[in-house]
Amino acid sequence: MSNDATAPATMRTMHCGAVTTADVGRRITLCGWVAKRREHGEHLAFIDLRDHTGIMQCVVEGTVDVRSEYVLQIEGTVAPRPEGTVNPQIATGAVELQDCVVSVLNAAEPPPFAVDDRADVDEPARLRHRYVDLRRPKMQRNLRLRAAVNSAIRRSMDTQGFCEVETPLLWAPTPEGSREFAVPSRLHQGKFYALPQSPQLAKQLLMVAGFDRYYQIARCLRDEDLRADRQFEFTQLDLECAFATEQEIRASVTEAVLDAAEAATGIRPDSVQTMTWKEAIDQYGTDKPDLRFEMRLIDLSEVFAGTEVKAFAAPCVKALRVEGGATMSRSQLDNLVDRAKSLGAKGLAWFKVTSNDGALGLESPLDRFLSDAERSQFLTTTGAAAGDLIVVVADEYRLTCSVLGTLRVDLGGKPVSEGPYRYVWIIDFPLYDGVDSDGRPEAAHHAFTMPHPEDLDRLETDPLSVRAQSYDLVLNGWELGSGSIRIHRADIQNRVFAAMGIDAEEAEERFGFLLGAFKYGAPPHGGFAFGIDRLVAIFAGENNIREVIAFPKTQSGADLLTGAPLELPAKQMTELGIRTVPKPV
Ligand code: AMO
Repeated sequence: MSNDATAPATMRTMHCGAVTTADVGRRITLCGWVAKRREHGEHLAFIDLRDHTGIMQCVVEGTVDVRSEYVLQIEGTVAPRPEGTVNPQIATGAVELQDCVVSVLNAAEPPPFAVDDRADVDEPARLRHRYVDLRRPKMQRNLRLRAAVNSAIRRSMDTQGFCEVETPLLWAPTPEGSREFAVPSRLHQGKFYALPQSPQLAKQLLMVAGFDRYYQIARCLRDEDLRADRQFEFTQLDLECAFATEQEIRASVTEAVLDAAEAATGIRPDSVQTMTWKEAIDQYGTDKPDLRFEMRLIDLSEVFAGTEVKAFAAPCVKALRVEGGATMSRSQLDNLVDRAKSLGAKGLAWFKVTSNDGALGLESPLDRFLSDAERSQFLTTTGAAAGDLIVVVADEYRLTCSVLGTLRVDLGGKPVSEGPYRYVWIIDFPLYDGVDSDGRPEAAHHAFTMPHPEDLDRLETDPLSVRAQSYDLVLNGWELGSGSIRIHRADIQNRVFAAMGIDAEEAEERFGFLLGAFKYGAPPHGGFAFGIDRLVAIFAGENNIREVIAFPKTQSGADLLTGAPLELPAKQMTELGIRTVPKPV
């Protein structure tokens, strides 16, 4: 019979990193891994014992056969370290454990690399032995920071009256633009589930179902090319609200992000700026502006309106002023021109700003083609100062902006995780991003995004000019998340589908279950999702989300620890009714 009043038996009485001079004289028991072992003569050894809280030095008399990463339990008495041996570098540096009794709980092979933040270990080795890599203090900190952020987000959403609902992982395809992972069905051979790119359609169904304010810390899966801010599997804070305005939804997200920021960094950011998509593109050349530095795009279209300079005879002429950039060498400038061309520009013009007795001038292969009026307006409009470099792109509006937007980050940017944190809401995105190869408008967000009410009458006549009720949250040049007000009325949905060339039959086939549900009383609704991996990476000072994921994939999508993806045993393939065919060459 158990007796609840009895304290449970324990293996340890303290954590290694928690021992201080206040504990001197206490007999304590610690558990952990051998971080280091140093011999002192024949019968005395110092063992640094490590757990996730830190390291404790244990003085062991007699012979003990332990090596790096052995798992030990050590009972001993806390004592001050002798004078001259105090180590101010570590929290427990003023104390040590004496009169130790050591129990070996498990032996260990020599580790594949040192469990030390200072060791420079190549990433494949780290991923192959991730369980050793995760013992390092930095990785412990990162994953615990992630847990703290998750917990703050949950608290924030609960406090704001959201209800957490889990949605299926085995699901039908969701139309969000990425390739999906498919899961073969054993019971319905030849048929497949799709792993959800996000709970998008499920959460909209929850709105029809009367949940009003839903959230989920949701695993999402997308079969897309991996890079610093992308993994196959990632986690979103996903939310949806019925009977709520865009402003209310953004306010709820802001609250959750600021709560997370406070939990992670100890500081609550004052505010989140708001900017329209048009302003972002005009001034920063991107819908993910990094506001940690200025260097805005400068519009020179008027300056060069009737120009004779062929390179500038284009619908849009814009420039960047690089302060002090005139020191760039010819080969650096050539590289910049090549970079602009690789981004799609026909070329890049550069001008070094010179000063002759206080009078500003320009040094550039193009300078002799400028009229005096153009040169003087160029200098005034760019606000140039001696020693600056001005680079100019002239082309179609979107291309000019995007080339200069990328060059802006190349020339002035810094790693995403470097402070300060600059959050910005980008609102009023266009409904369509451009046209596909058949000339049909393509949804910028997804096909269920509500057009801006003021632009609805242009849906058929000028679809590319229609704004959407959609919004992104950006932090230091990374897209943290996006969301929109959804279409809840069949008539508007049909018009949006029609503009995209999706007829009633295709709509029924692809989204029939959602459209069907909308017939039974769909409330006005909208929502948002942000990437928790990205947010935590930035808070952790990391520039790749792999560093805040316990078991991530490599760039090529491999799991080096388990070897996945793997072939399945023949029996399982037969059960699933699957046969592989050689990859076409
Ligand atoms: P979206 O596709 O923009 O919107 O995704 C929202 C956020 O999820 C994160 N994210 C990723 N993080 C890591 N790896 C990836 N492969 C990856 N893909 C996306 C990003 C991104 O901003 N259902 C809509 C949201 C809505 O409308 O409510 C959606 O998923 O931080």
